Amino acid sequence: MKHITVALVTLVIIGAMIYTASQGGAYHGGEAGNVIDDIQEQTAAATPNVPAATDDREIEQEKLKALRDKAGNVGKFNVSHNYKSKCASCHGMNGEGIIGPKLFGLEADAVYAKLLEYKSGRKENLIMKGLLLKLDETALREYADEIGTFKERAAALQE
Ligand code: HEC
Repeated sequence: MKHITVALVTLVIIGAMIYTASQGGAYHGGEAGNVIDDIQEQTAAATPNVPAATDDREIEQEKLKALRDKAGNVGKFNVSHNYKSKCASCHGMNGEGIIGPKLFGLEADAVYAKLLEYKSGRKENLIMKGLLLKLDETALREYADEIGTFKERAAALQE
């Protein structure tokens, strides 16, 4: 009985080997192997030619530029302590906008009008309203006037 079982298992294994060989298994570079080749060709074709930086100097300059751009985001011109502590976290150090919209370039009067709208609840926004409730109109005017000068201040830095 034991011999018969062993013989059967052996037959099945040999059968499987013959079948695999006849199909040209993946490890033999058969049909399945071709699929892998094709994928390699396709990915190579799909990858656009990225011009490699020619020498180390160029790479170095790219890095420097990236650093400078990054440093540029950390406040180009000085803003008041009040703006920094109350508004910059959402609107950016120079009003460039983060989770709050960009304020840079807005006219002082436009900013003031917006702030009054938020404070009075005419314009719905819980974040801005909660923030402005404790500020009186004189303070709002000061913020508005400061934001109104952002563009000039940035321009002055370019000269
Ligand atoms: C916690 C985040 C946060 C802070 C802090 C914050 N804001 Fe805002 N602000 C917002 C969001 C969000 C909006 C957009 C609301 C909307 O969609 O109406 C907004 C909108 C505004 C607008 C209208 C902009 C536009 O183009 O419609 C002005 C002006 C403004 N904020 C000024 C300020 C000032 C000044 C301060 C500091 C006193 C300040 N914000 C602090 C989140 C903030």
